[in-house]
Amino acid sequence: MRKCRVLKIFLVSTLGFLLFTVLSGSRSQNHLIDEALDATLENYLHHLPIVTHKSCLNRHPRPQSPRDFQASQRHFVSKACQLLSTRKILLVGPETTYFLHSLWLAALKTRDHRTHHCHGPEFCKFHHICLPAGHSSSPRDRYKVPPTDKELVATNSTLMRYVLSTSLHTAKNKNDPGYTQVVVDPDTGIRLKNGYWLAQARRADIIVLNRGPIPAPAWTYSGETLGNWTFTRNLPRHLVLGNSLSADVLNAAFHATVTRFIPEVLQSLGAVQQDPLIRHKTLAWHASWFLGPQDFHAALQMDDPWALYYSAQGGMYMQNRLLTALLPHYNVHFLSPIAPSRFLADKAPADNAPRDMLQFTLGTTNSEAMATMFVKSLIELLECVK
Ligand SMILES: *[C@@H]1O[C@H](CO)[C@@H](O)[C@H](O)[C@H]1NC(C)=O
Ligand SMILES: *[C@@H]1O[C@H](CO)[C@@H](O)[C@H](O)[C@H]1NC(C)=O
Repeated sequence: MRKCRVLKIFLVSTLGFLLFTVLSGSRSQNHLIDEALDATLENYLHHLPIVTHKSCLNRHPRPQSPRDFQASQRHFVSKACQLLSTRKILLVGPETTYFLHSLWLAALKTRDHRTHHCHGPEFCKFHHICLPAGHSSSPRDRYKVPPTDKELVATNSTLMRYVLSTSLHTAKNKNDPGYTQVVVDPDTGIRLKNGYWLAQARRADIIVLNRGPIPAPAWTYSGETLGNWTFTRNLPRHLVLGNSLSADVLNAAFHATVTRFIPEVLQSLGAVQQDPLIRHKTLAWHASWFLGPQDFHAALQMDDPWALYYSAQGGMYMQNRLLTALLPHYNVHFLSPIAPSRFLADKAPADNAPRDMLQFTLGTTNSEAMATMFVKSLIELLECVK
């Protein structure tokens, strides 16, 4: 498995090219996917409540280069603290959301002059951030007991929380087996990890959600370089894209998006809308991003079906097109994209490829850029709902 990862680092750079070829190499193919997505949308939009107010968020184009977003990080971090003064923000989602939380904390270090600790996604409790310079509370308390509303007001600071939830499980009972027991998704053989986040959501002012792409089934990791994707051949044909592994994988990504991702996300959002203590909060969604460096000009030798499966769903395409249209019906703001459209090579070549293919090492060019973009997207949100 580890060997496979390392191998993937080399193979994955070609993914961008592959997806590029698939999605923009042929206009008619691209058009075909769009049409299929729009047909799916139409089915949903018929049944959804009418959007009463337009989102005040402007859709920005994807950031072009990480360089553009580094210099201004300090400024944006302070600005976000100002806008978040006395408020409580909750982040809920998979490990990519945890990664954004870590990026933000790292960026806050220069402002807060203190490090914020977290013992991993499953054990993250709270972070008292945006404290004024020189504010000294006993560190023991600071890490063990969350600040009260009064303390937040007294110091103009912010309470940030992260809860790991890979499928945005929304059972009302905190003892539901979905939270307390090991649940393996029978469709993929992959473990779901869902913390109980609704109680925190009721206490928060701002809630940022995400659900990642449906993972490739465990049995695709067969030990062969390209894995075993036979399952894709038995799926209904949503997209007629020809006969190739990438066509099969794209069709499977579409299948996962329309049969699982969208219905399940809408179910979670529906549950949120039914909770009188959560529905009026500021709700936002951060987009997923591409898996692997997206250098469209990388040499084309081989492909990486796992990265294609992930990125076609979440990187820039299927989910985003559907969610952009659907989220406003649930009063959820879709944040501006966070990942640059092309990752920059770093000075240290080892940092070139993201860890786990999704998470860059903290402190490198691309992670700094993503930290800035994330904070900036929060600022846009806060200014828009002010
Ligand atoms: C908090 O912010 C308000 C207005 O932004 C300001 O008037 C007040 O002095 C600040 N309090 C502290 C402790 O910084
Ligand atoms: C590939 O997976 C299928 C089940 O999805 C299995 O029946 C088949 O034997 C596997 N092929 C190889 C070469 O492992």
